Amino acid sequence: MFRNVAAISLHLIGPLQRKKAGTSLTRCLHQTLTMATRLQARRLDGIDHNPWVECTKMASEYDAVNLGQGFPDFPPPDFALQAFQLALSSDFMLNQYTKAFGYPPLTKILASFFGKLLGQEIDPLKNVLVTVGAYGALFTAFQALVDEGDEVIIIEPFFDCYEPMTLMAGGHPVFVTLKPSPTQDGELDSASNWQLDPTELASKFTSRTKALILNTPNNPVGKVFSKAELELVANLCQQHDVICITDEVYQWLVYDGYQHTSIASLPGMWERTLTIGSAGKSFSATGWKVGWVLGPDSLVKHLRTVHQNSIYHCPTQGQAAVAQSFQHEQLHFGQPSSYFVQFPQAMQRCRDHMIRSLQSVGLKPVIPQGSYFFIADISDFKKKMPDLPGDKDEPYDRRFVKWMIKNKGLAAIPTSIFYSRPHQKHFDHYIRFCFVKDESTLQAMDEKLQKWKEELRP
Ligand SMILES: Cc1ncc(COP(=O)(O)O)c(C=O)c1O
Repeated sequence: MFRNVAAISLHLIGPLQRKKAGTSLTRCLHQTLTMATRLQARRLDGIDHNPWVECTKMASEYDAVNLGQGFPDFPPPDFALQAFQLALSSDFMLNQYTKAFGYPPLTKILASFFGKLLGQEIDPLKNVLVTVGAYGALFTAFQALVDEGDEVIIIEPFFDCYEPMTLMAGGHPVFVTLKPSPTQDGELDSASNWQLDPTELASKFTSRTKALILNTPNNPVGKVFSKAELELVANLCQQHDVICITDEVYQWLVYDGYQHTSIASLPGMWERTLTIGSAGKSFSATGWKVGWVLGPDSLVKHLRTVHQNSIYHCPTQGQAAVAQSFQHEQLHFGQPSSYFVQFPQAMQRCRDHMIRSLQSVGLKPVIPQGSYFFIADISDFKKKMPDLPGDKDEPYDRRFVKWMIKNKGLAAIPTSIFYSRPHQKHFDHYIRFCFVKDESTLQAMDEKLQKWKEELRP
Protein backbone atom coordinates (compact mmCIF):
# COMPACT_ATOMS: atom_id res chain seq x y z
CA MET A 1 0.00 0.00 0.00
CA PHE A 2 2.82 2.45 0.85
CA ARG A 3 4.69 3.68 -2.20
CA ASN A 4 7.92 4.10 -0.29
CA VAL A 5 11.19 3.05 -1.83
CA ALA A 6 13.37 5.16 0.43
CA ALA A 7 14.82 2.35 2.45
CA ILE A 8 17.53 1.50 -0.14
CA SER A 9 21.08 0.82 0.93
CA LEU A 10 22.78 4.17 1.56
CA HIS A 11 25.78 2.38 3.04
CA LEU A 12 26.71 1.03 -0.43
CA ILE A 13 27.65 4.49 -1.84
CA GLY A 14 30.41 7.08 -1.13
CA PRO A 15 30.08 10.02 1.32
CA LEU A 16 29.31 12.79 -1.23
CA GLN A 17 26.88 10.66 -3.17
CA ARG A 18 25.47 9.54 0.13
CA LYS A 19 24.85 13.15 1.15
CA LYS A 20 23.16 13.96 -2.19
CA ALA A 21 21.17 10.78 -2.18
CA GLY A 22 20.28 11.39 1.44
CA THR A 23 18.88 14.84 0.63
CA SER A 24 16.72 13.61 -2.18
CA LEU A 25 15.60 10.65 -0.14
CA THR A 26 14.65 12.94 2.74
CA ARG A 27 12.62 14.99 0.29
CA CYS A 28 11.03 11.80 -0.94
CA LEU A 29 10.28 10.69 2.62
CA HIS A 30 8.72 14.03 3.45
CA GLN A 31 6.27 13.86 0.57
CA THR A 32 2.69 13.49 1.69
CA LEU A 33 1.88 9.86 2.00
CA THR A 34 -0.75 8.70 -0.47
CA MET A 35 -2.52 5.46 0.17
CA ALA A 36 -4.82 3.34 -1.87
CA THR A 37 -7.29 3.50 1.02
CA ARG A 38 -8.16 6.35 3.39
CA LEU A 39 -5.28 7.22 5.71
CA GLN A 40 -6.79 8.27 9.03
CA ALA A 41 -9.25 6.17 11.00
CA ARG A 42 -12.86 7.29 10.74
CA ARG A 43 -13.07 7.72 14.48
CA LEU A 44 -10.93 10.85 14.05
CA ASP A 45 -13.42 12.57 11.77
CA GLY A 46 -14.49 15.95 13.12
CA ILE A 47 -12.23 15.88 16.16
CA ASP A 48 -8.91 16.90 14.62
CA HIS A 49 -9.18 20.65 15.24
CA ASN A 50 -7.73 21.79 18.54
CA PRO A 51 -8.47 25.43 19.41
CA TRP A 52 -6.10 25.26 22.42
CA VAL A 53 -3.09 25.01 20.13
CA GLU A 54 -4.04 28.27 18.39
CA CYS A 55 -4.52 30.25 21.63
CA THR A 56 -1.32 28.90 23.21
CA LYS A 57 0.68 29.64 20.05
CA MET A 58 -0.65 33.20 19.88
CA ALA A 59 -0.02 33.77 23.58
CA SER A 60 3.66 32.93 23.14
CA GLU A 61 3.95 34.83 19.82
CA TYR A 62 2.70 38.03 21.47
CA ASP A 63 4.45 37.29 24.77
CA ALA A 64 1.10 37.63 26.56
CA VAL A 65 0.57 36.87 30.25
CA ASN A 66 -0.93 33.40 30.00
CA LEU A 67 -4.04 33.21 32.16
CA GLY A 68 -5.59 30.59 29.95
CA GLN A 69 -4.06 27.20 30.49
CA GLY A 70 -4.85 25.15 33.56
CA PHE A 71 -1.62 24.56 35.40
CA PRO A 72 0.07 26.18 38.38
CA ASP A 73 3.19 28.20 37.58
CA PHE A 74 4.57 27.68 41.10
CA PRO A 75 6.27 24.61 42.57
CA PRO A 76 4.54 21.64 44.19
CA PRO A 77 4.75 21.50 48.00
CA ASP A 78 8.17 20.57 49.46
CA PHE A 79 7.00 17.22 50.82
CA ALA A 80 5.88 16.17 47.33
CA LEU A 81 9.13 17.30 45.69
CA GLN A 82 11.13 15.46 48.34
CA ALA A 83 9.03 12.37 47.75
CA PHE A 84 9.88 12.49 44.04
CA GLN A 85 13.58 13.01 44.76
CA LEU A 86 13.49 10.04 47.10
CA ALA A 87 11.80 7.95 44.44
CA LEU A 88 14.65 8.80 42.05
CA SER A 89 17.48 8.15 44.47
CA SER A 90 16.38 5.34 46.79
CA ASP A 91 15.37 1.85 45.65
CA PHE A 92 16.84 1.26 42.17
CA MET A 93 13.96 -1.12 41.43
CA LEU A 94 11.74 1.96 41.15
CA ASN A 95 13.40 2.37 37.74
CA GLN A 96 11.63 -0.80 36.61
CA TYR A 97 8.07 -1.75 35.78
CA THR A 98 5.73 -2.05 38.70
CA LYS A 99 2.36 -3.83 38.94
CA ALA A 100 0.36 -3.09 35.81
CA PHE A 101 -2.71 -1.73 37.62
CA GLY A 102 -0.74 0.46 40.01
CA TYR A 103 2.34 0.60 42.25
CA PRO A 104 1.14 -1.33 45.33
CA PRO A 105 1.92 1.35 47.98
CA LEU A 106 -0.06 3.83 45.84
CA THR A 107 -3.11 1.63 45.28
CA LYS A 108 -3.04 0.82 49.00
CA ILE A 109 -2.98 4.43 50.19
CA LEU A 110 -5.57 5.50 47.60
CA ALA A 111 -7.82 2.70 48.86
CA SER A 112 -7.52 3.69 52.50
CA PHE A 113 -7.60 7.48 51.91
CA PHE A 114 -10.64 7.47 49.62
CA GLY A 115 -12.28 4.53 51.38
CA LYS A 116 -12.83 6.79 54.39
CA LEU A 117 -14.11 9.68 52.27
CA LEU A 118 -16.49 7.54 50.26
CA GLY A 119 -17.60 5.36 53.16
CA GLN A 120 -16.53 2.21 51.29
CA GLU A 121 -14.28 -0.72 51.95
CA ILE A 122 -11.94 -0.28 48.95
CA ASP A 123 -9.81 -3.19 47.80
CA PRO A 124 -6.52 -1.87 46.35
CA LEU A 125 -6.37 -4.72 43.84
CA LYS A 126 -9.96 -4.68 42.65
CA ASN A 127 -11.31 -1.17 43.12
CA VAL A 128 -8.33 1.00 42.12
CA LEU A 129 -6.64 1.51 38.77
CA VAL A 130 -3.70 3.90 38.34
CA THR A 131 -3.58 5.66 34.98
CA VAL A 132 -1.59 8.24 33.02
CA GLY A 133 -3.28 11.26 34.55
CA ALA A 134 -7.02 11.75 34.83
CA TYR A 135 -6.99 11.99 31.03
CA GLY A 136 -5.84 8.37 30.92
CA ALA A 137 -8.55 7.39 33.39
CA LEU A 138 -11.25 9.06 31.30
CA PHE A 139 -10.04 7.52 28.06
CA THR A 140 -9.84 4.06 29.61
CA ALA A 141 -13.33 4.41 31.08
CA PHE A 142 -14.90 5.47 27.77
CA GLN A 143 -13.12 2.73 25.84
CA ALA A 144 -14.12 0.10 28.40
CA LEU A 145 -17.79 0.96 28.80
CA VAL A 146 -19.13 2.93 25.83
CA ASP A 147 -20.15 0.93 22.81
CA GLU A 148 -21.27 1.71 19.26
CA GLY A 149 -24.54 3.64 19.47
CA ASP A 150 -24.53 4.11 23.26
CA GLU A 151 -25.63 7.53 24.45
CA VAL A 152 -23.53 9.46 26.94
CA ILE A 153 -25.05 12.44 28.75
CA ILE A 154 -22.59 15.33 29.00
CA ILE A 155 -23.33 18.40 31.12
CA GLU A 156 -22.14 21.52 29.34
CA PRO A 157 -20.01 23.54 29.57
CA PHE A 158 -17.79 20.46 29.78
CA PHE A 159 -14.09 19.66 29.95
CA ASP A 160 -13.50 19.50 26.25
CA CYS A 161 -12.21 15.90 25.88
CA TYR A 162 -15.50 14.29 26.97
CA GLU A 163 -17.09 14.72 23.56
CA PRO A 164 -14.23 13.33 21.40
CA MET A 165 -13.70 10.49 23.87
CA THR A 166 -17.37 9.53 23.54
CA LEU A 167 -17.15 9.73 19.75
CA MET A 168 -13.91 7.71 19.55
CA ALA A 169 -15.60 4.93 21.50
CA GLY A 170 -18.46 4.96 18.96
CA GLY A 171 -20.86 6.60 21.41
CA HIS A 172 -23.33 9.40 20.86
CA PRO A 173 -23.01 12.50 23.07
CA VAL A 174 -26.25 13.95 24.43
CA PHE A 175 -25.86 17.41 25.91
CA VAL A 176 -27.66 19.07 28.75
CA THR A 177 -26.79 22.65 29.56
CA LEU A 178 -26.21 24.40 32.87
CA LYS A 179 -28.40 27.51 32.74
CA PRO A 180 -27.31 30.73 34.44
CA SER A 181 -30.12 32.48 36.26
CA PRO A 182 -30.31 36.28 35.92
CA THR A 183 -28.48 38.39 38.50
CA GLN A 184 -29.44 41.73 40.04
CA ASP A 185 -28.06 44.75 38.19
CA GLY A 186 -24.46 45.41 39.17
CA GLU A 187 -24.13 42.13 41.07
CA LEU A 188 -21.50 39.60 39.99
CA ASP A 189 -22.83 36.25 38.85
CA SER A 190 -21.87 33.11 40.78
CA ALA A 191 -21.22 29.58 39.50
CA SER A 192 -23.88 28.42 41.98
CA ASN A 193 -26.48 30.18 39.77
CA TRP A 194 -25.60 27.86 36.88
CA GLN A 195 -28.05 25.02 37.29
CA LEU A 196 -29.51 22.01 35.60
CA ASP A 197 -33.18 22.06 34.73
CA PRO A 198 -34.45 18.80 36.35
CA THR A 199 -37.12 18.23 33.68
CA GLU A 200 -34.66 18.79 30.85
CA LEU A 201 -32.10 16.50 32.48
CA ALA A 202 -34.69 13.74 32.94
CA SER A 203 -35.69 14.07 29.27
CA LYS A 204 -32.14 13.19 28.16
CA PHE A 205 -32.26 9.67 29.59
CA THR A 206 -33.39 7.05 27.07
CA SER A 207 -33.15 3.29 26.74
CA ARG A 208 -29.83 3.82 24.92
CA THR A 209 -28.21 5.92 27.69
CA LYS A 210 -25.14 4.09 28.95
CA ALA A 211 -23.35 6.72 31.01
CA LEU A 212 -23.50 10.23 32.37
CA ILE A 213 -20.34 12.21 32.87
CA LEU A 214 -20.21 14.57 35.79
CA ASN A 215 -17.47 17.04 36.65
CA THR A 216 -17.47 18.61 40.09
CA PRO A 217 -15.88 21.07 40.81
CA ASN A 218 -16.46 21.88 37.19
CA ASN A 219 -14.07 23.15 34.55
CA PRO A 220 -14.61 25.84 33.17
CA VAL A 221 -17.32 27.48 35.34
CA GLY A 222 -16.05 26.39 38.77
CA LYS A 223 -19.44 25.05 39.82
CA VAL A 224 -19.51 22.70 42.81
CA PHE A 225 -22.61 20.52 42.52
CA SER A 226 -24.69 20.62 45.69
CA LYS A 227 -25.81 17.46 47.45
CA ALA A 228 -29.37 18.05 46.20
CA GLU A 229 -28.17 18.38 42.59
CA LEU A 230 -26.11 15.20 42.95
CA GLU A 231 -29.12 13.38 44.39
CA LEU A 232 -31.13 14.39 41.33
CA VAL A 233 -28.42 12.98 39.03
CA ALA A 234 -28.04 9.86 41.22
CA ASN A 235 -31.77 9.11 41.22
CA LEU A 236 -31.97 9.38 37.45
CA CYS A 237 -28.89 7.16 36.97
CA GLN A 238 -30.44 4.51 39.23
CA GLN A 239 -33.88 4.80 37.67
CA HIS A 240 -32.46 4.31 34.16
CA ASP A 241 -29.65 1.91 35.10
CA VAL A 242 -26.95 4.29 33.89
CA ILE A 243 -23.25 4.41 34.86
CA CYS A 244 -21.87 7.63 36.30
CA ILE A 245 -18.33 8.66 35.39
CA THR A 246 -17.39 11.43 37.78
CA ASP A 247 -14.34 13.60 37.19
CA GLU A 248 -13.34 15.05 40.57
CA VAL A 249 -9.80 16.21 39.82
CA TYR A 250 -10.42 19.56 41.57
CA GLN A 251 -12.04 18.07 44.66
CA TRP A 252 -9.69 19.81 47.11
CA LEU A 253 -10.15 23.19 45.49
CA VAL A 254 -13.40 24.51 46.95
CA TYR A 255 -13.87 28.03 48.26
CA ASP A 256 -16.11 30.18 50.47
CA GLY A 257 -17.00 27.22 52.70
CA TYR A 258 -18.61 25.16 49.91
CA GLN A 259 -18.26 21.40 50.34
CA HIS A 260 -17.30 18.90 47.70
CA THR A 261 -19.49 15.78 47.70
CA SER A 262 -18.53 12.66 45.76
CA ILE A 263 -21.57 11.20 44.04
CA ALA A 264 -20.17 7.70 44.77
CA SER A 265 -20.80 8.36 48.47
CA LEU A 266 -24.57 8.71 47.93
CA PRO A 267 -26.76 5.67 48.67
CA GLY A 268 -26.78 3.14 45.83
CA MET A 269 -24.17 4.98 43.76
CA TRP A 270 -20.88 3.21 44.50
CA GLU A 271 -21.99 0.22 42.43
CA ARG A 272 -22.52 2.33 39.30
CA THR A 273 -19.87 5.04 39.65
CA LEU A 274 -16.30 5.49 38.49
CA THR A 275 -14.56 8.25 40.45
CA ILE A 276 -11.60 9.85 38.71
CA GLY A 277 -8.80 11.80 40.39
CA SER A 278 -5.48 13.41 39.51
CA ALA A 279 -2.25 13.76 41.47
CA GLY A 280 -1.29 16.55 39.08
CA LYS A 281 -4.19 18.67 40.29
CA SER A 282 -4.01 17.46 43.91
CA PHE A 283 -0.31 18.26 44.43
CA SER A 284 0.24 21.05 41.85
CA ALA A 285 2.36 18.71 39.74
CA THR A 286 0.48 18.40 36.47
CA GLY A 287 3.60 17.13 34.68
CA TRP A 288 3.71 14.00 36.83
CA LYS A 289 0.61 12.69 35.03
CA VAL A 290 -0.50 10.26 37.70
CA GLY A 291 -4.24 9.68 37.82
CA TRP A 292 -6.60 7.03 39.13
CA VAL A 293 -10.05 5.52 38.91
CA LEU A 294 -11.94 4.13 41.88
CA GLY A 295 -15.02 1.96 41.50
CA PRO A 296 -16.63 -1.43 41.94
CA ASP A 297 -14.77 -4.40 40.53
CA SER A 298 -17.66 -5.10 38.14
CA LEU A 299 -16.79 -1.85 36.31
CA VAL A 300 -13.06 -1.48 37.00
CA LYS A 301 -12.28 -4.98 35.67
CA HIS A 302 -13.23 -3.79 32.18
CA LEU A 303 -10.98 -0.75 32.52
CA ARG A 304 -8.16 -3.12 33.50
CA THR A 305 -8.71 -4.95 30.21
CA VAL A 306 -8.29 -1.71 28.24
CA HIS A 307 -5.31 -0.68 30.35
CA GLN A 308 -3.44 -3.97 29.99
CA ASN A 309 -3.90 -3.82 26.23
CA SER A 310 -2.86 -0.22 25.78
CA ILE A 311 -0.70 1.51 28.43
CA TYR A 312 -0.08 -1.53 30.63
CA HIS A 313 2.37 0.14 33.05
CA CYS A 314 2.47 3.72 34.28
CA PRO A 315 5.85 5.21 35.28
CA THR A 316 6.86 3.83 38.68
CA GLN A 317 8.74 6.74 40.28
CA GLY A 318 5.89 9.21 39.86
CA GLN A 319 3.54 6.72 41.51
CA ALA A 320 5.98 6.25 44.40
CA ALA A 321 6.10 10.03 44.88
CA VAL A 322 2.31 10.28 44.85
CA ALA A 323 2.00 7.39 47.33
CA GLN A 324 4.36 9.18 49.70
CA SER A 325 2.52 12.50 49.23
CA PHE A 326 -0.79 10.86 50.14
CA GLN A 327 0.89 9.36 53.24
CA HIS A 328 1.74 12.93 54.21
CA GLU A 329 -1.81 14.10 53.63
CA GLN A 330 -3.28 11.20 55.55
CA LEU A 331 -1.19 12.11 58.59
CA HIS A 332 -2.23 15.78 58.39
CA PHE A 333 -5.80 15.26 57.19
CA GLY A 334 -8.13 18.17 58.03
CA GLN A 335 -5.42 20.03 59.97
CA PRO A 336 -3.96 23.44 59.14
CA SER A 337 -0.72 21.67 58.15
CA SER A 338 -2.49 19.73 55.35
CA TYR A 339 -1.81 20.81 51.76
CA PHE A 340 -5.43 20.01 50.96
CA VAL A 341 -6.37 22.66 53.55
CA GLN A 342 -3.66 25.23 52.74
CA PHE A 343 -3.86 25.02 48.96
CA PRO A 344 -7.52 26.12 48.56
CA GLN A 345 -6.97 28.94 51.06
CA ALA A 346 -4.05 30.27 49.01
CA MET A 347 -5.95 29.83 45.73
CA GLN A 348 -8.98 31.65 47.08
CA ARG A 349 -6.72 34.68 47.55
CA CYS A 350 -5.47 34.37 43.94
CA ARG A 351 -9.08 34.02 42.76
CA ASP A 352 -10.15 37.16 44.61
CA HIS A 353 -7.15 39.12 43.37
CA MET A 354 -7.86 38.20 39.76
CA ILE A 355 -11.59 38.87 40.05
CA ARG A 356 -10.94 42.34 41.49
CA SER A 357 -8.36 43.21 38.86
CA LEU A 358 -10.33 42.04 35.81
CA GLN A 359 -13.36 44.08 36.82
CA SER A 360 -11.30 47.26 36.51
CA VAL A 361 -11.47 47.04 32.69
CA GLY A 362 -15.11 45.98 32.49
CA LEU A 363 -14.78 42.18 32.48
CA LYS A 364 -17.45 40.54 34.63
CA PRO A 365 -16.19 37.40 36.39
CA VAL A 366 -18.62 34.67 37.42
CA ILE A 367 -17.46 33.79 40.94
CA PRO A 368 -16.41 30.12 41.03
CA GLN A 369 -17.16 27.85 44.00
CA GLY A 370 -14.24 25.59 43.15
CA SER A 371 -11.59 24.44 40.60
CA TYR A 372 -8.70 26.36 38.98
CA PHE A 373 -10.99 28.46 36.80
CA PHE A 374 -13.68 31.06 36.39
CA ILE A 375 -15.34 32.53 33.35
CA ALA A 376 -15.92 36.22 32.74
CA ASP A 377 -18.83 37.78 30.90
CA ILE A 378 -17.77 39.89 27.89
CA SER A 379 -21.23 40.79 26.58
CA ASP A 380 -20.62 44.51 27.21
CA PHE A 381 -17.61 44.32 24.87
CA LYS A 382 -19.72 42.43 22.35
CA LYS A 383 -22.18 45.32 22.32
CA LYS A 384 -19.47 48.00 22.11
CA MET A 385 -17.19 46.35 19.55
CA PRO A 386 -19.17 43.64 17.76
CA ASP A 387 -16.98 43.59 14.65
CA LEU A 388 -13.68 42.26 15.91
CA PRO A 389 -11.55 40.67 13.17
CA GLY A 390 -12.03 36.98 12.51
CA ASP A 391 -13.85 34.51 10.30
CA LYS A 392 -17.53 35.21 9.71
CA ASP A 393 -18.61 32.08 11.57
CA GLU A 394 -16.05 32.35 14.32
CA PRO A 395 -17.74 32.68 17.74
CA TYR A 396 -17.29 36.13 19.32
CA ASP A 397 -15.33 34.84 22.35
CA ARG A 398 -12.60 33.38 20.08
CA ARG A 399 -12.26 36.68 18.25
CA PHE A 400 -12.21 38.52 21.57
CA VAL A 401 -9.45 36.28 23.00
CA LYS A 402 -7.31 36.85 19.91
CA TRP A 403 -7.93 40.59 20.13
CA MET A 404 -7.03 40.59 23.83
CA ILE A 405 -3.81 38.64 23.26
CA LYS A 406 -2.70 40.93 20.43
CA ASN A 407 -3.80 44.26 21.86
CA LYS A 408 -3.79 43.85 25.62
CA GLY A 409 -1.11 41.19 26.15
CA LEU A 410 -3.40 38.90 28.15
CA ALA A 411 -4.35 35.35 27.17
CA ALA A 412 -7.53 33.53 28.20
CA ILE A 413 -9.53 30.66 26.67
CA PRO A 414 -12.81 31.13 24.75
CA THR A 415 -15.60 29.41 26.69
CA SER A 416 -17.55 28.34 23.58
CA ILE A 417 -15.04 25.51 23.07
CA PHE A 418 -16.55 23.90 26.17
CA TYR A 419 -19.93 23.62 24.41
CA SER A 420 -21.32 21.35 21.74
CA ARG A 421 -21.28 22.94 18.30
CA PRO A 422 -25.03 23.82 18.12
CA HIS A 423 -24.84 25.57 21.50
CA GLN A 424 -21.62 27.52 20.93
CA LYS A 425 -23.39 30.53 19.47
CA HIS A 426 -25.52 30.90 22.63
CA PHE A 427 -22.43 30.91 24.86
CA ASP A 428 -19.96 33.00 22.89
CA HIS A 429 -19.80 35.85 25.42
CA TYR A 430 -17.65 34.32 28.14
CA ILE A 431 -13.90 33.72 28.38
CA ARG A 432 -12.13 31.42 30.85
CA PHE A 433 -9.32 32.44 33.17
CA CYS A 434 -7.07 30.19 35.28
CA PHE A 435 -6.21 31.80 38.61
CA VAL A 436 -3.87 29.11 39.95
CA LYS A 437 -0.95 31.42 39.30
CA ASP A 438 2.11 32.74 41.04
CA GLU A 439 2.23 36.21 42.62
CA SER A 440 4.58 37.36 39.82
CA THR A 441 2.07 36.32 37.13
CA LEU A 442 -0.71 38.18 38.93
CA GLN A 443 1.52 41.23 39.11
CA ALA A 444 2.32 41.01 35.38
CA MET A 445 -1.44 40.74 34.76
CA ASP A 446 -2.06 43.85 36.89
CA GLU A 447 0.48 45.83 34.86
CA LYS A 448 -1.26 44.89 31.61
CA LEU A 449 -4.65 45.75 33.11
CA GLN A 450 -3.36 49.10 34.36
CA LYS A 451 -2.33 49.99 30.80
CA TRP A 452 -5.70 48.80 29.48
CA LYS A 453 -7.46 50.96 32.10
CA GLU A 454 -5.47 54.02 31.08
CA GLU A 455 -6.47 53.49 27.45
CA LEU A 456 -10.10 53.50 28.58
CA ARG A 457 -9.85 56.99 30.08
CA PRO A 458 -11.62 59.57 27.89
C1 LIG B 1 -11.82 18.52 34.53
C2 LIG B 1 -10.51 17.90 34.18
N1 LIG B 1 -10.39 16.58 34.14
C3 LIG B 1 -9.23 15.97 33.84
C4 LIG B 1 -8.11 16.71 33.54
C5 LIG B 1 -6.84 16.01 33.20
O1 LIG B 1 -6.05 15.77 34.33
P1 LIG B 1 -4.60 15.12 34.23
O2 LIG B 1 -3.64 16.24 34.01
O3 LIG B 1 -4.40 14.42 35.54
O4 LIG B 1 -4.62 14.17 33.08
C6 LIG B 1 -8.17 18.10 33.54
C7 LIG B 1 -7.00 18.91 33.16
O5 LIG B 1 -7.06 20.08 32.90
C8 LIG B 1 -9.40 18.72 33.89
O6 LIG B 1 -9.54 20.06 33.91
